[in-house]
Amino acid sequence: MKTFDFNLDDGIATLCLDLEGSNVNILSSEVLKDLDTKLDELKIAKDIKLLKITSAKEGIFIAGADISQIESLRDEDEAYTLVREGQQILSKFSVLPYPTLAVIDGACLGGGLELALCCDYRLATENVKTKIGLPEVNLGVLPGFGGTQRLKRLTGLSKALELILGGKILNGKKAEKLGIVDACVPQGYLEFKEKAFIELILNDAKKILVKRQEGSLLDRFLPSVVFSYARKNVMSKTKGKYPAALAILDLFEKTQNKEVEEGLELEARAFCKLAVTDISKNLIGLFYSSEALKKEMGVKRKVNPIPINMINVIGTGVMGSGIVFQFSKIDKLVRMKLRRYEQAAEAMKNIYKVYAGFIMRHRLTKEEVGMKMAHISYTTEFNGFEHCDLALEAIVENTEAKQELYAQLEEKMDEKAIIASNTSSLSISMLSEKMQHPDRFIGMHFFNPVARMPLVEIIPGKKTSSKTIATIVSLAKEAGKTPIVVGDCEGFLVNRILLPYINEAVRMFEEGADYERIDKVILDFGMPMGPFVLADEVGLDVGYKVAKVLEDAYGERMKVSSILDRVYQQMELLGKKSGKGFYIHSSKDRVVNDAVKNLVFSKRQFDEKEIIDRAMLIMINEAAMCLQEGVVENAQYLDMAMIMGTGFPPFRGGLLKYADSIGIKSIVISLRSLEKHHGLRFEPAKLLVDMAKNEKTFY
Ligand code: NAI
Repeated sequence: MKTFDFNLDDGIATLCLDLEGSNVNILSSEVLKDLDTKLDELKIAKDIKLLKITSAKEGIFIAGADISQIESLRDEDEAYTLVREGQQILSKFSVLPYPTLAVIDGACLGGGLELALCCDYRLATENVKTKIGLPEVNLGVLPGFGGTQRLKRLTGLSKALELILGGKILNGKKAEKLGIVDACVPQGYLEFKEKAFIELILNDAKKILVKRQEGSLLDRFLPSVVFSYARKNVMSKTKGKYPAALAILDLFEKTQNKEVEEGLELEARAFCKLAVTDISKNLIGLFYSSEALKKEMGVKRKVNPIPINMINVIGTGVMGSGIVFQFSKIDKLVRMKLRRYEQAAEAMKNIYKVYAGFIMRHRLTKEEVGMKMAHISYTTEFNGFEHCDLALEAIVENTEAKQELYAQLEEKMDEKAIIASNTSSLSISMLSEKMQHPDRFIGMHFFNPVARMPLVEIIPGKKTSSKTIATIVSLAKEAGKTPIVVGDCEGFLVNRILLPYINEAVRMFEEGADYERIDKVILDFGMPMGPFVLADEVGLDVGYKVAKVLEDAYGERMKVSSILDRVYQQMELLGKKSGKGFYIHSSKDRVVNDAVKNLVFSKRQFDEKEIIDRAMLIMINEAAMCLQEGVVENAQYLDMAMIMGTGFPPFRGGLLKYADSIGIKSIVISLRSLEKHHGLRFEPAKLLVDMAKNEKTFY
């Protein structure tokens, strides 16, 4: 199979990567082998003044190493031999007897950037597809083809650490600013600029090298401070659950004063140690699921979406204002429907608060935010609704209120406009029962907080048209979210699985468990927060209403715990938004709310296993029921939804991948034992029982 073209013209040699039969260039072992042979030839070739490495693929330089080959690594020593070979091949670029130049016009990631780093010079373009970075940490490994040793020599220590630990991806301009590429030029001028750049290399190379960074004073004189700060940061972000980040830090420390060659050997060792772990396999599995999701949602449904330019959002509470933010950010015109004008200031303040974070992190300028905020207007009537292509409803979780609103919207809006609900639990088919055009009604369920949670559940009702589905899937993608189409049952997918877990945690409290401890155990398991903190964050009113909808739909299995009833109905606590719930919240911290804690007199010690078993198995069981009923297409999508919608720990590979790691047989045995002690809600799903019998796994 052809992997590249070669040509020599007036002393300028061009190695143009063009992997046959593929849209992308990747550094598979086959490509590396071909490069190896060519580089040996090139080393002794005469008449070459400069070697240029380019790509024939549109929007791609080299997308990275072959992930399937990393995934297949099982033995550390075997992996070591392969990685060392790869390193040695790429290192051959750096010892050619003439200058080498990588021309980067498209994705240059992982192994691709590591190859470019072996060249003497790098020229990038301003093409939006030019993406430069070493994102290996996201796959549970570290850059293994020299990235950890060569990047820091261009950017300085702290920037290299920041980029590799964060798996950050840069555009050409940013890469130029950090010294990773020597110049970044407009794509349209590439041919002409490239010629001038080659002239410069051949005649006055020193001028180019001036731009490279030496790092900050701390980098040079007090690296120990840089390491200690980075370690603290990693621990606070990963809680030590992601070994790749810690291994990157260790490697940087060990190789701080070493030559590249010595560093490469240690890098290969560290890479192989990580590559064979379950955590890396889990993260690679999730990468595949997310790629499949990106491709399938939408492409499968071969219907063209309707363009959506103007959107009205009704209800500007926690979710509505988040949704207004999200749509204004992608430059849609957004019209908020308020009940009272006073609500406008509060909503605008909350929306600006999210934007302020973007300004602080230099992701948007003040001027850009100003322009985006200017897309937002408001009304207390339905003025201007006739021009909107979409209405997104985010009012209180109440069937009558929602249905009444839909009737008004159908009257005020254009015939072709779509109406979507952000309901978190009510059936879409049921909500659309009285509508004139249920074909243009759909669930578009964002998660809280909207700006941070990547998942949007898309819920077609029985009568929703495929055009409506395609439009909303496409809009969710445009908004930078990951849409997953799920079935129309109460709670849909994520809340249907999550609610029993919160309920179970509250039941353990009811039986005498210390809920602060439950939160801690679940946090240690890897969830981003414990169930009681989560309940407070979501809002006890919202949570309670959802829990009631699910109890009505699923009966005994989802019976709302009496404590939740008392905390919300009698004590009227709303959680974080009112300052009090299971915890008392202040701007700085939170402490246990004794008034709630004292609702249970008799205390019982719960061991960690019992807490994890009850909290996780009840979710696994519900997830199996969702799969068995076809609420979601497959286990991979379910796992992605739980990760993106609830923050289920990615290092565990997802809820059902975690189930596989425990063993389905053992889960069924535990569920049966829990059923005996606690009742029907633990009765194992038929799917699990069948799988256990046939020794099947989800993956
Ligand atoms: P919220 O109580 O913070 O806000 C509701 C807003 O709707 C308030 O501003 C209220 O004034 C307004 N409103 C109520 N009835 C209205 C009407 N007839 N016309 C215009 N405005 C009206 O509630 P939240 O949390 O934003 O929830 C809204 C919807 O989003 C619910 O359906 C909820 O189930 C769903 N949801 C909530 C999530 C959460 O974590 N809070 C997550 C995902 C969905």
